[in-house]
Amino acid sequence: MNTSPWHFPRADFARSVLTLLMDGPIQGVSLFGPRRMGKTQFLLNDLAPLAERKRHRAVYVSFMQTGAPLALTLFELDLALKHRKLGRRLNARPGELKARFSLKAPVGPGELTVDLGQSPRELPGDQLLALDALLGALADPGHPTLIMLDEFQELADTENAELVAALRTALDKRRDGLRAIFTGSSVDGLNRVFSTRSAPFFRFATPVDLPPLGEDFVDHQLKAFGEISKRMLDREKADEVFERFERNPLIFQRWLMMLAVRPDLDEDGTLELVRAALAEELGFEAIWLKLSPGQRIVARLLAQRVEQVYGEEGRDAIATLTGGASLQTSEIQAALRRLRRLDVVDRWDKDWRISDPLIEAWIKERPAEELRL
Ligand SMILES: Nc1ncnc2c1ncn2[C@@H]1O[C@H](COP(=O)(O)OP(=O)(O)OP(=O)(O)O)[C@@H](O)[C@H]1O
Ligand SMILES: [Mg+2]
Repeated sequence: MNTSPWHFPRADFARSVLTLLMDGPIQGVSLFGPRRMGKTQFLLNDLAPLAERKRHRAVYVSFMQTGAPLALTLFELDLALKHRKLGRRLNARPGELKARFSLKAPVGPGELTVDLGQSPRELPGDQLLALDALLGALADPGHPTLIMLDEFQELADTENAELVAALRTALDKRRDGLRAIFTGSSVDGLNRVFSTRSAPFFRFATPVDLPPLGEDFVDHQLKAFGEISKRMLDREKADEVFERFERNPLIFQRWLMMLAVRPDLDEDGTLELVRAALAEELGFEAIWLKLSPGQRIVARLLAQRVEQVYGEEGRDAIATLTGGASLQTSEIQAALRRLRRLDVVDRWDKDWRISDPLIEAWIKERPAEELRL
C-alpha cells in the first residue's frame, strides 16, 4: 500500500469497483480514462490493497512497452503464486525480471523456459497451456483472485489475437474463481479489443469511468505540501493551475513537489520549469518536430476542441491560426491518420481528441510561428 503523503486515496471508488466485481454476476470491468489521470495509481494503491485486505489475491500485469506480453503475464502469474502480497512482488521485481526465466511447468514435470524477447507471432503452445494452468492454480472460488491488466489496448493488434483468445478462455473457465479489470488510455484501442464482434472479449467487461479528480484532491495535495514544506499556498492559485491543465494530477503534483524543494522560485516560475521538464520527459517536443505544419494545425484544432474540423468552425480556426490560409479536406484526413499513428489523437465517442491531456495543454500554447503553413 502507498503510504506516501502525496497519494490521494480513492477509497469510495475502490469499494464500488470491488463490490461490482466480487458481489455480483460481473466477471470483468474495463476502466477507461485519459492518459496520466491516475488509472495505474488506482489499481496499485487503492484497488489491490483493498482486495488484499478482503483476502483476495491481486495480480498486476502492464502491457505498456512490452514486446512479449505472454511471457510477462506468465512471469507475473507465477510470481503471484509464490508471494501472496502484491506489494512484496513489486518490490522484488527488478532483481527477478530477467530476459529469460524458467518456471516449474504447471502441467507435467520439469521446467518451462520463457523468453521475454520472444515475439507474439510465435507463441509456443506449451506456454499458452501454462497460462491456462497458472490461472487455474490462482482461481479461488472462496476469495476470487483479482487479475489487473493495465494498458490492455496494447493487445489490440492482430499479432496478439491468440493470447487474447487464450486469456478469455482461461477466465471463462473459472467464472467463480477469477475476476479481471482491464484498463487503458486509448478508448479506441480498448474498444477494438472489447467491442469488435469477432474479438473474443466482446461483451466480457462492463465499462466504468475513472471519476475525475476535484476539490478534495486539491485539498489533499495542499495538505501534503503543507506537511512537507511547512508553508501555505494560495488556494486560488492552486485551483487556477489545476484547471489550466485539465485537472491533471501529474503536473499539479510535480508543481507542488518542486515548490516544496525550491522555495527560492515563485509559483509561475516553478510551473514553467515543471512544464518544460515534463514536455522533455514525455517526448512532446520530439513528436512535435515530426509533424508537418498541416498536421500541427490539425492537432491544434483538436487541442482547442474545435468541434467540426471539416466545417465552418474548422475553416475559421485554420484561417485565424495561419493568417488566412486553408487546408483541403483530404489534407485534414491525412493529418488525422498520421496523428493517430503517432498516438497523438484518439477517438472519443466518435470525436477526435488529443489522447493525452498534458500534450493537449502543451499544443494549445505553441506560438504562432510554429504553425505557419
Ligand atoms: N490518487 C492519486 N493521488 C496522488 N497523485 C496521483 C493520484 N493519481 C495519479 N496521481 C499522479 O498522476 C500521475 C499519473 O498517474 P498514473 O500513472 O496512475 O496515470 P495513468 O492514468 O495510469 O496514466 P497512463 O495513461 O500514462 O498509464 C502519478 O504519477 C501521480 O503523480
Ligand atoms: Mg498507467
